[in-house]
Amino acid sequence: MLDFLRRGITETFAAVRADHGDLARLRLPGGAVVVTVAHPDAVERILHHRRDNYLKGASYASIRLITGTNLVTAEGAAWAWRRRLAQPAFTREGVVNYLPAIAECADAMLDRWAAAFGRGQPFDLQRELTALTMQIVGRTLFGVDLIGEHAAASGRAFDEALAIVHDRGAATFALPLAIPTPANLRLRRALATLHREVEAIIERAARDHQGPPTLLRALLAARDPETGDALSRAQLRDEVIMLYLAGHETTATLLTWTFWALARAPEAREALHAEIDALAEDQLRPSAELFQRIPYARQVLHEVMRLHPPAPLIPRSIVEDDDLCGFRAPGGAHVAVLIYHLHRHPDYWPEPLQFRPERFSPAAVAGHHKYAYLPFSLGPRTCIGNTFALWESQLILAKILRRFAVDLDPERPLRIAASTVHRPAKGVIAALRPRLGTS
Ligand code: HEM
Repeated sequence: MLDFLRRGITETFAAVRADHGDLARLRLPGGAVVVTVAHPDAVERILHHRRDNYLKGASYASIRLITGTNLVTAEGAAWAWRRRLAQPAFTREGVVNYLPAIAECADAMLDRWAAAFGRGQPFDLQRELTALTMQIVGRTLFGVDLIGEHAAASGRAFDEALAIVHDRGAATFALPLAIPTPANLRLRRALATLHREVEAIIERAARDHQGPPTLLRALLAARDPETGDALSRAQLRDEVIMLYLAGHETTATLLTWTFWALARAPEAREALHAEIDALAEDQLRPSAELFQRIPYARQVLHEVMRLHPPAPLIPRSIVEDDDLCGFRAPGGAHVAVLIYHLHRHPDYWPEPLQFRPERFSPAAVAGHHKYAYLPFSLGPRTCIGNTFALWESQLILAKILRRFAVDLDPERPLRIAASTVHRPAKGVIAALRPRLGTS
């Protein structure tokens, strides 16, 4: 189901909404039924009031094929235990500890940019930001440097595995992984590479008792509350793969869309530069206070996630028949919460296509319908990495804009990738202009 939805999801559902309204029932080519939901009251029922009736279940089958059971894919007690275990790494205090490493990775990238692209040479901004966020997840959560050849090998293996899983899902009938079709063989090879890279990371973490505590070391030390058992190596591997996947591409995409949006909104871009330029050098040091000093940067990021949510939908499987605002949601069907369309719903967002960071000023936020804006989802299964992602993005944005003006050609057409992440398909080309005599 996820895979059908991935194909041009934004366009597919724009048409569904135009024809059928905020709630619709579709029959997919293989016979599965999906209820699409773009009404905030129905979303509140799915994610909050009746959440036990809307499970990840079959809707997460393709992701489970690559990542097994982990914090993102597990349910019930297996999920609750994992969530409790990971939570300390993602509290505000937890994330504050990561700020120096995030700043260091960003500074190193900017020094490299100054040398390689400082005279306006065009470069792929999306690719740079993806490498940066991958390195940050590696350093902060696993205590390793995911750069160079290893990062490239696992990045390629992820891309390939996801593309094949996508095709499997899109096909009405996919043969089990054990049957050696060419696609299955390629998937098995990609998974083997991925497992090898991730197992090497775990080995290093198990040997290395130096340095700051990391989530990976907490996972290595954890014991199942019911059995008293440690996580097996395969379970650890599945957790690491999922965190690696969930934790870097989404944030890189948010930053990429931010530069894309700012290139089309000169006033917002100027206001953001002014906010960041006003900081004294020592105020730019990575600390929780920095984020209070750059509130407009946060508003910009929220408005970018409204128009370009990196996670454009939330899939669930319906356990038993339910009534969604007078609409029948049949048990056994899938449901797709259309984040992308909720965020552009004209009843909740006046002139929805206009880029207006002011929508997220504290006074304006008080007037929003809570379930009309959910880039990180809401309820117990809300994104555990939301503070991490926002602080990381604010810090990186501030550091980049302090040193460079980032120019993009606003006329250049953009194709959206067929992916679970709503992102440009083929990179985003940018050019830099040094600012404030810093580069
Ligand atoms: C802009 C960046 C991000 C966006 C838009 C985003 C979005 C989301 C969304 C919509 C979900 C809910 C999925 C569902 O219920 O089906 C989710 C869950 C999750 N995200 Fe994020 N995410 C981001 C960054 C991160 C980061 C940086 C991490 C980790 C380092 C992370 C880790 C997770 C995990 C582990 C879950 C599953 C939580 C659970 O079920 O208990 N995410 N994310």
